[in-house]
Amino acid sequence: MYYISDLHSHIDQEVSLKGWVINSRSSKGIEFIVFRDGTGFLQCIVDENNVGSEVYELSKTLSQESSVEITGKVIKDERQIGGLELHVNNLKIINLTNNYPITNKSHGVQFLMDNRHLWLRSKRQWAIMRVRNSIIYAIHNFFQNEGFMQMDAPLFTGNAAEGSTTLFETEFYDRPAYLSQSGQLYGEAMAMAMGKIYTFGPTFRAEKSKTRRHLSEFWMIEPEMAFYDNEMNMNLIERFIKSVVSEVITRCSSELEVLERDVQFLQKVVETDFPRISYDDAVKVLNGVKEINGITSIDLLNKDLKAITEQIEQVNNDIVEREEILSDETLKQKKRNFIQNKIDILKNDLIDLQEKASHIPEWIKSAQNFKYGEDFGGSDETVLTRMFSLPIMVYNWPKDIKAFYMKRDDENPDLVKGVDVLAPEGFGEIVGGSERETDYDILLGRIREHKLPEDVFKWYLDLRDYGSVPHSGFGLGLERFVSWITNTKHIRETIPFPRMYGRLEP
Ligand code: 4AD
Ligand code: MG
Repeated sequence: MYYISDLHSHIDQEVSLKGWVINSRSSKGIEFIVFRDGTGFLQCIVDENNVGSEVYELSKTLSQESSVEITGKVIKDERQIGGLELHVNNLKIINLTNNYPITNKSHGVQFLMDNRHLWLRSKRQWAIMRVRNSIIYAIHNFFQNEGFMQMDAPLFTGNAAEGSTTLFETEFYDRPAYLSQSGQLYGEAMAMAMGKIYTFGPTFRAEKSKTRRHLSEFWMIEPEMAFYDNEMNMNLIERFIKSVVSEVITRCSSELEVLERDVQFLQKVVETDFPRISYDDAVKVLNGVKEINGITSIDLLNKDLKAITEQIEQVNNDIVEREEILSDETLKQKKRNFIQNKIDILKNDLIDLQEKASHIPEWIKSAQNFKYGEDFGGSDETVLTRMFSLPIMVYNWPKDIKAFYMKRDDENPDLVKGVDVLAPEGFGEIVGGSERETDYDILLGRIREHKLPEDVFKWYLDLRDYGSVPHSGFGLGLERFVSWITNTKHIRETIPFPRMYGRLEP
């Protein structure tokens, strides 16, 4: 059995492939089939003179998403997708499809989400899932090479790790229990046994709001390291992100091309130090009282707004220009279609630009009004990272907006040694981490302050009694990371079957 991904080593040989038909068209005794087998895409040519009338007629019946077995000769052709095409000798239909619901025309997101079980076959979704797979592979690679051990945390838990407002309650043999929000607390116990560990599993948060960054079920990678302070933690996070991004650039070049991802931008991320900024300074930058590279956030946003307004004008002119050409009635149909297509693309660009422009005044207002002590909202994160066009690390947070387990700062007890990594280009927080509180009494005090039930944290407090050591860790949200790398605006497309507010099927 052959796969499209292997065909480069079978040029001029006859191979048999099994897969699905994306589309087909005929022209003068030749049928052109675009075929996929999960590993890639391939144009297949069925020439009546070569296969005879029976196979040729069969090829003309092929509908979108019919499954087939195709035999033919692999021919090198740089102009084709993947640089190859197949000159078909024989063809067998496995299953002929009728009325496949997802066609070439544009469908609404609701419709596509209802058909997620089929939508996964589309090229863009295929590319996102391939990148997701490579990211997972690169994550394991990184940690295994660094001597970390993967260990698994339970998913049924008795205690809240990340605040009680987003808990999914369930039942465990007549006892109330919760779906895990994070493997971290167990990770801490495991790090005391193994030194450096990571957990990688599903986590659950009841987030009763529909945002493009929140899922109810998402996958999290959570390393935990004994004898690490938050500085070492930040160094590890930076090396880790760079390593994974770099591996994805190498392994997924064709997928990133399908996704129209600006690879140069990702390359810069790999090569440049991530800016590190305290919460205190981040607030000043947001308020526009601290400059970065000689400019305040407010001035930069106004500059962006001006540039986008000019772009809008330009695109509008381009559209008018092309519509004038179309008004010529003698224009050939082929040329007409070509221009109309270009106009449609420009109109889409226009919508994107107008949306961007409409947000900026809100962002400016929100940034100017941001008060010390608040948590950053989505737009604040976008503005902060815009200042650097890189992932940034924000550290030393007010304790009141962070989890109970974070270690207090030695100099200022109102701060904790937490770190968030904010992804650029509007993707927001991808990593949350911290050094962990080691003092038994302070930790107990924090558990009480957060009104968490003490009895279920008894085992966790034990860790501070027996061989307690400084330790740190972090959590990377897999789907947020995939969103950013693949430049997918909504997180629902980064997991095969998303679970989120209002969505349990398919
Ligand atoms: O910042 P969070 O809540 O941190 C923790 O859970 C810590 N226990 C991690 C640790 O130190 N071991 O979540 C970590 C990351 C976020 O930065 C974000 O990327 C992702 O998990 N995340 C979500 N992703 C999708 N949907 C949601 N509802 C998410 N909530 C958090
Ligand atoms: Mg967080």
